[in-house]
Amino acid sequence: MYQTLLTELDQGILIITINRPDKLNALNKQVFDDLDKAVDEIYQRDDIKAAVITGSGKAFVAGADIAEFSSLSKHQATALSNRGQYVFQKIESAPKPIVAAVNGFALGGGCELAMSCHFRVASASAKFGQPEVNLGLIPGYGGTQRLTQLVGKGKSMEWQMTGQIVDANEAYQFGLVNHVVEAEQLLHKTKEILQVIQSKAPLAVAKIIDLVNTAVLSDSAYTNGKSGYEKEAELFGSCFETEDMKEGTSAFLEKRKPQFNGK
Ligand code: COA
Repeated sequence: MYQTLLTELDQGILIITINRPDKLNALNKQVFDDLDKAVDEIYQRDDIKAAVITGSGKAFVAGADIAEFSSLSKHQATALSNRGQYVFQKIESAPKPIVAAVNGFALGGGCELAMSCHFRVASASAKFGQPEVNLGLIPGYGGTQRLTQLVGKGKSMEWQMTGQIVDANEAYQFGLVNHVVEAEQLLHKTKEILQVIQSKAPLAVAKIIDLVNTAVLSDSAYTNGKSGYEKEAELFGSCFETEDMKEGTSAFLEKRKPQFNGK
């Protein structure tokens, strides 16, 4: 049914596994199309009470698929950002709990996907970060906003500007993940929490999700009538007009260090 996802329904919990392990589950157009449909299933199917998003192999998701970036114009890149933001906002707004079980690298779009889930459980080997700056880029799927909401302004600034990768314990220390467990316990622990939630009143749970999201959103700044998310998509697009973005993404694909010139 899905080209890039494995799905399994276990006692009302839909386990969605992103399955492009040879590319560390990088988010290409197909993954977004598949995720969009899978999230629709969560909304629509009565037999699905909750969901877990995880990754196959050593990564949760190592980011947006950098190979897809090379030919994009500013306009197309803004559209890509809007598309990613749309799918992730649909996850965030789902009326049933969706939890990220972070099994490895959650970088760039992978960290953004995890942050769009209602909360996160990590294996001890998980790694988090927004390393887009290494590519002459910025996060484009809500990361500039959600990382700030979750870890606070200072750490969000530092992690995004340095492109620093943090381990599961540091992510836990700053509230990016709720629990850190051994790899073999990851799905068990995540399902255990969801089973507790499943024993509660579903309409009350849906209202909690809605209201917690409202609390966070009403905090976010609006500039000239634009939300942080709209501004992020625009500025993500404008990175694609820079020489540094072309250099950064080419250097990654050619497995060399980039030379940035500020243009
Ligand atoms: N987009 C496209 N391809 C990616 C990718 C991404 N975000 N992340 C990894 N891959 C690919 C690699 O190009 C490689 O493909 P190849 O075998 O055809 O050469 C494969 O996945 C394995 O990755 P590799 O880099 O060899 O694994 P590693 O264990 O040495 O390093 C990472 C792991 C996560 C540190 C490294 O892959 C990385 O830095 N990825 C990009 C992270 C990033 O910048 N994300 C933000 C994107 S906007």
